[in-house]
Amino acid sequence: MKTVSQISELRTQVKVWRQQGLTVAFVPTMGNLHAGHISLVDEAHKHADKVVASIFINPMQFGINEDIDNYPRTMVDDQQKLTAAGTDLLFTPTPDIIYPKGLAKQSFIEVPNISDGYCGESRPDHFRGVATVVCKLFNLVQPDIACFGLKDYQQVQVIQTMVEDLSMPITIIPVATTREESGLALSSRNGYLTAEEKAIAPVLQKNLQWLAEQISIGFSQSESIDFIGLSKQAAKVINDAGLHTDYLHVCHAHTLQPASEDDTQLVILAAAHCGKARLIDNLQLKLT
Ligand code: PAJ
Repeated sequence: MKTVSQISELRTQVKVWRQQGLTVAFVPTMGNLHAGHISLVDEAHKHADKVVASIFINPMQFGINEDIDNYPRTMVDDQQKLTAAGTDLLFTPTPDIIYPKGLAKQSFIEVPNISDGYCGESRPDHFRGVATVVCKLFNLVQPDIACFGLKDYQQVQVIQTMVEDLSMPITIIPVATTREESGLALSSRNGYLTAEEKAIAPVLQKNLQWLAEQISIGFSQSESIDFIGLSKQAAKVINDAGLHTDYLHVCHAHTLQPASEDDTQLVILAAAHCGKARLIDNLQLKLT
């Protein structure tokens, strides 16, 4: 696998592939890679001839109180994992390459509505930073397809909306969440968990499953479903176990608006603090 940090090197390599008539898939990341990231690379190989990955810890998507300096940096290890997964090219730009004028003078992409609630509420401007860097990376790599993990469900919807609204010629491939046996979603932030916290963290996914079951039972019995009441019950169990729920809502799977009686495609979105880590998770639910 070749690693490049300059835009010119990236463009030169992609141009060669284009001239050979090859298709290109893209997997953007912030590094500190685990099996979840690698599953995106595996999926990318199924859709294109060449796979480009990027590692860029994007300053624009971190809030002022979020510690970007302490975000884990494991470049050598990451390169080994990407090489083993058959990645063709790794792009590792520095902030001055992506934002040469500095953040204050940088144009940005704002994806309204879908960015507002949930993680967008807890982390103001976060999705503006995500959409801007992903748009910029798309323009640099010019891939045919790009893979994003459903672990960050709202992020996938934000990117999908941006691509549709701005007519970007790129197909977004959502990829299922990779989990530990306990059900805990793999995340770079799990590194902040102590052994004790790691033992209680799976309570988050377990209670999303409990909530999904209650909704399915209610639906199959044609009962009216109290989405808010059930969500509160699930959050209470999670909090009683020692986590601190930031939000837990049942939503329409695409608009992310609060679920209503007529919706059959749902997603339960949740975030909870566990020690120093803020865990996010979700569960998609189709009522039939
Ligand atoms: P990062 O957190 O490094 O995640 C990179 C990609 O890996 C995202 O698409 C994310 O959803 C996916 N991912 C993370 N954990 C996963 C898991 N357990 N299973 C499957 N996929 C998983 O998300 C970002 O970086 C950034 O916001 C980025 C899109 C790169 C823009 O800066």
